[in-house]
Amino acid sequence: MTDQSTPRPMVQAQGPTGPHQGYMPGFGNDFETEALPGALPQGMNSPQKCAYGLYGEQLSGTAFTATRPERTWCYRIRPSVKHSRRYEKIDLPYWKTAPHIDPDVISLGQYRWDPVPLRSSSEAVAHQDTEALTWLTGMRTMTTAGDVNTQVGMASHVYLVTASMVDDYFYSADSELLVVPQQGRLRFLTELGVIDLAPQEIAILPRGLVYRVELIDGPARGFVCENYGQKFELPGRGPIGANCMANPRDFKTPVAAFEDREVPSTLTVKWCGQFHRTEIAQSPLDVVAWHGNYAPCKYDLTTYCPVGAILFDHPDPSIFTVLTAPSGQPGTANIDFVLFRERWLVAENTFRPPWYHKNVMSELMGNIYGQYDAKPQGFVPGGLSLHNMMLPHGPDRDAFEKATNAELKPHKLDNTMSFMFETRFPQHLTAFAAHEAPLQDDYIDCWTSLEKKFDGSLRPDGGDATPGKK
Ligand code: FE2
Repeated sequence: MTDQSTPRPMVQAQGPTGPHQGYMPGFGNDFETEALPGALPQGMNSPQKCAYGLYGEQLSGTAFTATRPERTWCYRIRPSVKHSRRYEKIDLPYWKTAPHIDPDVISLGQYRWDPVPLRSSSEAVAHQDTEALTWLTGMRTMTTAGDVNTQVGMASHVYLVTASMVDDYFYSADSELLVVPQQGRLRFLTELGVIDLAPQEIAILPRGLVYRVELIDGPARGFVCENYGQKFELPGRGPIGANCMANPRDFKTPVAAFEDREVPSTLTVKWCGQFHRTEIAQSPLDVVAWHGNYAPCKYDLTTYCPVGAILFDHPDPSIFTVLTAPSGQPGTANIDFVLFRERWLVAENTFRPPWYHKNVMSELMGNIYGQYDAKPQGFVPGGLSLHNMMLPHGPDRDAFEKATNAELKPHKLDNTMSFMFETRFPQHLTAFAAHEAPLQDDYIDCWTSLEKKFDGSLRPDGGDATPGKK
């Protein structure tokens, strides 16, 4: 019997060496991995007796009858039903789920926030914080969209983590989580392996996957897109062809890892927007071997190869889509995850920043680092902005003046990495976003000083526009 009161490193499969140490490259591949030799059955899924006394169990991420089923076969010390007892409801008041419309909040508007403060240990003491913040208690919902009960829509969150989860595990039955760190590294110890995640990387945690989250080197802050709908996938490339944008080989799925640890533990489940906790007697991270195509992964955003205008004009921002979660209506995403990173601007005779527009989709942006070209001031690392369904927006006055008067030489946009969660559904602000998060009350003023420049007498060809004159 193994009975340790403190966590120990998980037993990990031997995997690829070199740049893929601990991970297997590829997006949506059918992987196979085992942390003990011979643990994975070959040629079949359900042998009469599994090696090492393991139990076989399937984790289904799609309906059995999906055109391309996503599922993973796990060979584990105990079946998951042994990690599930009677549940009691618990309250995580800052983690909200759609439909959630607060009557005291106005979601109609252009909004921008400074970073939600992440306190160091000493600052937390000074502010008399009574509770360390874990992945669960530190999740702060900013917006919700759609309806979790019909599996459409999303939520956006800021996470603030100041403490590791200890003997406490979690899974979301509601959603797939896309994690975008902005400060500090996190370790996701999951049923299917270990992901270490740093700023400028993202992780995808599938619906139903059990894990705990630890800090690696101090407090951590970042963003989460909670996807209630169909899984994220790589966008159709069309005329762009087979290369550039996000290349499948740059996604990394962890090799199998398990812990055989018998210690009183809790498992928290998010289910239809409510949180439930059960007490178990062991770690549920006990999958010794697995094979399948339903698994967590991470991706280094600096490997994203942007494609853009090379002569004139400005493509839609969808040209920078990293991942898309379909909605069932072709070309209209439940969520697009879009990346604005370093790139060259070379277009001739062109207004180069993002143009002014109104959009039926709603756009939530976050700044990972640096300066965003349409908003040189005010949109800072760790900050967020929301331009909701059919709300006009665009460059502020300074960005407009600079872009319309600049000498259009090739210009490198450097020191910049922002992203967008764009959804076909309107996003509703939470009370936290409206009243507690550092909302910039003066954001709307960034367009106030845009001037009327119209002069009907100025003809583009230099002639006189007065009626009757040439
Ligand atoms: Fe926009």
